[in-house]
Amino acid sequence: PSPDDLARAESRIALTPDFPTPGVLFRDIGPVLADAGSLATVTAALAAPFEGRYDLVAGVEARGFLLAGALAAATSTGLLPIRKAGKTPNPTASVDFALEYGVATIEAAGDLTGRRVLVVDDVLATGGTLAAAVSLVEQLGGEVAGIAVVLELTELRGRERVPQAHAVFTA
Ligand code: PRP
Repeated sequence: PSPDDLARAESRIALTPDFPTPGVLFRDIGPVLADAGSLATVTAALAAPFEGRYDLVAGVEARGFLLAGALAAATSTGLLPIRKAGKTPNPTASVDFALEYGVATIEAAGDLTGRRVLVVDDVLATGGTLAAAVSLVEQLGGEVAGIAVVLELTELRGRERVPQAHAVFTA
């Protein structure tokens, strides 16, 4: 995508102060997804660095599903939903990870032996979710071919946990 296309898409990220808790400035990519041109721009920008190097796109629940679906359709690959605990019948891998308060679990099913997987999500914040998703793909036998997010929140330093992540936008 051109710098102009990227700037147009980035300008659609909506800022909401004090959501979900007071003091937090929430950055919502919803309006980016809702605009056809911006969705195409973001989808192309997520995929570009990894062109020809993956055959499956894994998206993390919930907003990562949307991007993984768009990417898999645009680049003619398969799609793997990485779900939160308790939603997957017969999970073959499960990873616990720390949240700010408490713990979360992600799961998936299947065998990814021989598959090259691009892991996508909307936001890289503390990096806990994507680091867990990488472990999950590896537990399933897959090779992580790349990690791509729409927006990296740099001050939360998630990159320290997923240094190889490619971010379309940073804030
Ligand atoms: C958000 C976001 C990422 C994750 C990033 O998901 O969509 O998946 O947090 O945070 P981290 O880098 O600190 O792990 P959330 O857990 O809010 O779930 P949702 O997509 O179901 O709303």
